[in-house]
Amino acid sequence: MAQALYRKWRSRTFDEVVGQEHVTQTLRNALRDGRVAHAYLFSGPRGTGKTSTARILAKALNCTGPEENRPCDVCPTCVAISEGRMLDLIEIDAASNNGVDDIRELRDKVGFRPSEGSYKIYIIDEVHMLSTNAFNALLKTLEEPPPHARFILATTEPHKIPATVHSRCQRFDFRRIPVVEIAAHLRHIASEEKVQAEDAALTAIARSAQGCMRDAISLLDQMTSYGAEAISVEQVHQVLGSVASESVSGFVDALADQNLTAGLQTVHDLLLAGASLQEFTTQVVEHLRGMLLLQMTGDSGLLDDRSPETVQRMEIQARKLTQPQTLYAVKRFGEAIGELKGGYQPQLPLELALIEAASGPVVQAAAVPQPTPAATPAATSVASQAAPAAQKSSTKPATQTVAAPSAADGAPVPLDNAAVSRLRGQWNEVLAAVREQSGLKQQAALRAVRDIAIGENAIALSFGNNKFARDMISEGETLAQVSGILARFVGRQVAVECMEGETATLSAAAGRVVHDDRKTDGPDPLVEFAVSELGAEVKDEKSGKRKK
Ligand SMILES: Nc1ncnc2c1ncn2[C@@H]1O[C@H](COP(=O)(O)OP(=O)(O)O)[C@@H](O)[C@H]1O
Ligand SMILES: [Mg+2]
Ligand SMILES: [Zn+2]
Repeated sequence: MAQALYRKWRSRTFDEVVGQEHVTQTLRNALRDGRVAHAYLFSGPRGTGKTSTARILAKALNCTGPEENRPCDVCPTCVAISEGRMLDLIEIDAASNNGVDDIRELRDKVGFRPSEGSYKIYIIDEVHMLSTNAFNALLKTLEEPPPHARFILATTEPHKIPATVHSRCQRFDFRRIPVVEIAAHLRHIASEEKVQAEDAALTAIARSAQGCMRDAISLLDQMTSYGAEAISVEQVHQVLGSVASESVSGFVDALADQNLTAGLQTVHDLLLAGASLQEFTTQVVEHLRGMLLLQMTGDSGLLDDRSPETVQRMEIQARKLTQPQTLYAVKRFGEAIGELKGGYQPQLPLELALIEAASGPVVQAAAVPQPTPAATPAATSVASQAAPAAQKSSTKPATQTVAAPSAADGAPVPLDNAAVSRLRGQWNEVLAAVREQSGLKQQAALRAVRDIAIGENAIALSFGNNKFARDMISEGETLAQVSGILARFVGRQVAVECMEGETATLSAAAGRVVHDDRKTDGPDPLVEFAVSELGAEVKDEKSGKRKK
C-alpha cells in the first residue's frame, strides 16, 4: 500500500512548517545565535506540527551542511533523521506502556556522549501522560542536563505538566492553522501529486479539519481514491457527512437569524444525505456552548481548539443572540440529542429544538389563579387529563371570536389555570400534533404563542405582535385542526381565540367557572425553568407587579 500522504508530506525544513512562524522563526534565531535552550515544551492540538518541528530542530542541531542553512536536509545526518535511523535522536512515546522504563533508561544513558552527531536529542511525545515517578526522574535530568543533551517535550495538554518541569522548559504554543493556509498547502500537495481538485473542495476540506493539518491531508488522501475526476465540493460534503462544520455553522446562522426555512432545509439535507443527526446535533451543542463562553467571558482564548474562522463566526453569532437565548438553545438541543433515536420521524426532535430555540425561551408566567369558590365536582372531572378519545374536529367548526377583555359586568372571566399549566407541560406534544395534522408552518406559527388562557369552553392564544402567526392559526381549516388538537389535550371541546398582545384574555362567552383545586397553584415547570435558569421574573398578570 502506498505511504499515507500525511507521512509522505511531513515537513522536512522550517520553511515547510505551515502556520507556525512564531515558533520556527524563534528557533532559527536561537540556532543562528547558538542559544538553543536545553529543553523545550511544544504544546498545541494534535496534527499541527509539533513532532515535525521537533525533528527539524534535531536535524538543525546535528546538520553538517552550511551553517546559515540548517537543516540542509541533504547531509547524511539530515537524511538519517528523515529516515528515522539516527541513533542520537531518541523518541519516547509517553502514552505507551513502557514510558516509565524509557525515562529510566534516558536517565541512565543521557550522560553518554552522542555517537554520531554533536547532540543527543530526546523527543518525549504526549509527555503529560508520564507517571509521577517518571516525571520526577525526568526532572532530575532537566535540573542538571549534560551539555550535549537537548530535550523536546510535546503535549496536547500542557496544563497537566507539573510546574517544576514546566519551569525548566522554554514553551512554544502551536496554534490551529487558519483555513486559508491549510487550503494553500493542500493545493500544493494536490498539484505535486497530480490530483485535480476544485478550490472550493480544498477549502471545505480545510475548514472541516478545524486547524489540524494532519486531518486535512488525510481527508485529501481519502478523496483521491474517489476516481479520476476532479475532487468536487459535493464529494467532500458527502464524505464528511455530518461532521461538516460548515453545516453546523450554517445551521447556527439560521438559528441566530431566526431563518427557520434555512435551518429546516439543513435538517432535510442532512437526512437525505444519510448523516447522523445525533452527531450533528452534538456538534451544534458544542458550537452553541462556545458561543455561550464568548458571551459570558468575551474571551476567545477559551476556544483555542477552534479554527480562527470558526471563532470569528461564533463571535458574530454570539452578538445576535442574548445570553439567555443561547443558554436555552444549548439546553434545548442538548435534550434533542437524547430524543434523536430514529423512529417514525427521526428528525422531529431536532426540528422542534430549532423552532423553539429560534423563538427563544418562554418567560411568560402562567395565568394567575382566580378565586373560584363556585367550582363544581362535575367541572373538576371534565377538566381532568383523561381526554375523551377521538373528538372529531370537523363536527363542530371552531369560531374565531374577537376577544372582549372581560365580561360585561366587569367581573373577570373565570380561568382554568391548572389546564394552562398542564397544556404548557405538554406543549411539545401539541406542536408535534399540529405539525402532523396541519404542517410545519402552522407548527412554527403556533410556537409564537406568548400566553394561554383557558375557560370552560374556549382557549385564548396571544401571539405578541406576531400578526403573521396569529393569522396563520386563525385561518379556517387550521383553526379547526388546532382546536381539535387542543380539545384532545384539554379534555373538552374548546373554541380557539387568537389575539395579538402579550396577554391572552377570554371573552365573556368563554363561560362558566372551571376549577381544578388539585394543583392550581402548583409551579409551572416552564416558569420554574425560566426563573432558575434564565433569570426571568414572575409578574402578576394583571398588576404587572413582581411576584415572590
Ligand atoms: N504546521 C504544519 N505544516 C505542514 N504540515 C503539517 C503541519 N502540522 C502537521 N502537518 C502534517 O501532519 C503530519 C503530522 O504532524 P505532526 O508534526 O506529527 O503533528 P503533531 O506532532 O502536532 O501531532 C505531518 O506529517 C504533516 O504531514
Ligand atoms: Mg506528534
Ligand atoms: Zn543537514
